[in-house]
Amino acid sequence: MRQFYPLKVKDIRQETADCVSVAFAVPQEEAETFQFIQGQYITLRTTISEEEIRRSYSICSSPLDEELRVAIKRVPDGRFSTFANRQLQVGDTLDVMPPDGRFYTTVKAENEKHYLAFAAGSGITPVFSIMKTILQAEPKSKFTLFYGNQRTESIIFREDIEALKNTFLNRLSVYYLLSQEHTGSDLFSGRIDRDRCQVFFKHLVQLNQIDECFLCGPEEMILGVREELLANGLQREQVHLELFGTNAGKRKKQEVNVADSDFQSEISIQLDGNSFSFTMTNPQESVLDAALRNGADLPFACKGGVCCTCRAKVEEGEAEMAVNYALEPDEVEAGFVLTCQTHPKGDRLVVNFDA
Ligand code: FES
Repeated sequence: MRQFYPLKVKDIRQETADCVSVAFAVPQEEAETFQFIQGQYITLRTTISEEEIRRSYSICSSPLDEELRVAIKRVPDGRFSTFANRQLQVGDTLDVMPPDGRFYTTVKAENEKHYLAFAAGSGITPVFSIMKTILQAEPKSKFTLFYGNQRTESIIFREDIEALKNTFLNRLSVYYLLSQEHTGSDLFSGRIDRDRCQVFFKHLVQLNQIDECFLCGPEEMILGVREELLANGLQREQVHLELFGTNAGKRKKQEVNVADSDFQSEISIQLDGNSFSFTMTNPQESVLDAALRNGADLPFACKGGVCCTCRAKVEEGEAEMAVNYALEPDEVEAGFVLTCQTHPKGDRLVVNFDA
């Protein structure tokens, strides 16, 4: 069930000058609820200056660590991330929604795969969890990571990654790129982009030996790298994407194609076996916002079409999404929507959060 649970902060570790990792104490009775898969995220909720704030953060620990830990990098004007970096203390309680997300692949001990990952900045968080898990749980698999940062001191988990390299000498390769510091090589001084990928794929990685790729970072980076991977023969289903540091919440939403005049739509929401109905009269409002305004307690986090927490299925009626960074084409085909981005197109819409 997508509801919040109060969890105590068990440990806070300063990872870099502007990034902390926060571990939670999970009570025995909630252990199953908070079991996670490498690459997933949790949504945190707290009240700051009398305003409820929710943010999703990727889990940086591995399921094998038996610890639930997220990394929170402070972003300029980020209220939650500033609070977490400057005020949060061990022993404080935060509301935490159980792990969610599909940025992972199934790990099997008998696999003999070569995984490739590109991460930028805090985009390392889920990739680090995935990398640790695969290296430990798949003894015959290899992992190659390209990791972009501004400067050496801003590299999150640098020591842990170096320790992993020492432990898995022949199975882990890591290439660091720095955008604001010269590394002694033009190829690694700058951002991860398509041009550099062309050189990487020519000289450093043989893409025909890569089984799966994980891309996590800003939109421009992950979409650019994906294009290059697809152009070089990888299939879409081999490439897993997780969008980080997006401006999605701030971006101008794509115009939603519904007429404004005399708009009225009967909305029925199904959640946890219950049904809740209301009338929408503003076609520019999302189904999620309208439902929340009408008193429904629905799961959401980013409200930017990124995290997928607000996913539900349209059971009746027609709707369209303004943006979608989270759902795969087959899910959209099957009728799933991100309700924070969804606008009804007709006079009736039934949306099922239990589907
Ligand atoms: S709340 Fe994150 S995608 Fe809708």
